[in-house]
Amino acid sequence: MIIVPVALGSRSYDVHIENGALDRAGALLAPWIKRDRAIIVTDANVAATQLPRLRTALAGIEQHVITLAPGEGTKSWEQLEALTDQLLEVEVERGDHIIALGGGVIGDLVGFAAAILKRGCGFVQIPTTLLAQVDSSVGGKTAINSKAGKNLIGAFHQPGFVLIDPSVLDTLPPREQRAGYAEVVKYGLIDDFAFFEWCEANGAALLAGDMAARTHAIAKSVAAKARIVAADERETADLRALLNLGHTFGHALEADKGFSDQLLHGEAVAAGMALAFRFSAARGLCTAQDAARAAAHLNAAGLPDGLRAAGVTANGEALVRHMLHDKKMTGGTLPFILTRGIGQSFVDKSVGLAEVAAFLDGEER
Ligand code: NAD
Ligand code: GLY
Repeated sequence: MIIVPVALGSRSYDVHIENGALDRAGALLAPWIKRDRAIIVTDANVAATQLPRLRTALAGIEQHVITLAPGEGTKSWEQLEALTDQLLEVEVERGDHIIALGGGVIGDLVGFAAAILKRGCGFVQIPTTLLAQVDSSVGGKTAINSKAGKNLIGAFHQPGFVLIDPSVLDTLPPREQRAGYAEVVKYGLIDDFAFFEWCEANGAALLAGDMAARTHAIAKSVAAKARIVAADERETADLRALLNLGHTFGHALEADKGFSDQLLHGEAVAAGMALAFRFSAARGLCTAQDAARAAAHLNAAGLPDGLRAAGVTANGEALVRHMLHDKKMTGGTLPFILTRGIGQSFVDKSVGLAEVAAFLDGEER
């Protein structure tokens, strides 16, 4: 069992990582379950695979289960309204902790509903995708999407507890495992060269379901995220922004694909990280060898390493237009996460979008 604390003063919480923890949820969640009843929000795929384990673990406690449609479309105003209505119907109170059982979609939606219901009630995260276990369940970013773009309506609202059971990934489809793995590699690329080398050596085993590799990667990733979030919770100190490595490029690719299943978030992040490395190399910031090495590992893991692999044919100008909706845009400038080499990322506020468009026009399609 590994416990990673997220140190945020009065809003501090623990991330509990343990193989089989879901089957012990009754004991582990006891401090968060008030009035002997649990309110669980999940999606249909998770309901069919992992929910029975949670229900058994909570046997003897009154259970209200709300099951939503799977997919990015669930992070919408309509679904938020329907969810908050259902939560009000079961008379959720501020002191309650709604249980978010699912991937980043369920975690982001439930977290945002908890942030606004009754001016803020509690929630706990039980992430069931690799992406949610290594990234979205920790750090308190919650959001839904709007017509103008992804995650534009949201709040910082920290969970009270995060329960991670690596065994729930046994039922996660391989493509979703790979998409989540992109966020694992991200931590090595940001500031941990040794962890990137570990990924090169162990990524294949992790993706094949090796429990020791999976647990190590989750624990390393959560520890890295907890450290960054504790130091820069609201992304004001050019530190949490590093977690967006590959995301500005990736977001443009996701937008080009209409945020559809054609390109999953983690796949877009993988392609975006490869682009950020090649863009950094083009600017003379890092070596072409480092850019090629980062891309080669993503490619070996079955992830897209550029526009062609992501199936994106749009030109540079069209892709840059998607970047204009970015939340990070300040005074007409968009900060980019660039790199001086593997494990040496930094925030660069000197990048012009015309330069980005020209770079993207030079990429293979
Ligand atoms: P997801 O929640 O859509 O889950 C992916 C798919 O896997 C879904 O079909 C889901 O039903 C299914 N699934 C989940 N767990 C399963 C399991 N154990 N067995 C079988 N099927 C399972 O996608 P995701 O990749 O987890 O999350 C993507 C979302 O996370 C995006 O909306 C993104 O914006 C958000 N995100 C948020 C943060 C943050 O800090 N809040 C960080 C990164 C990403
Ligand atoms: N996933 C980026 C962040 O949590 O800041």
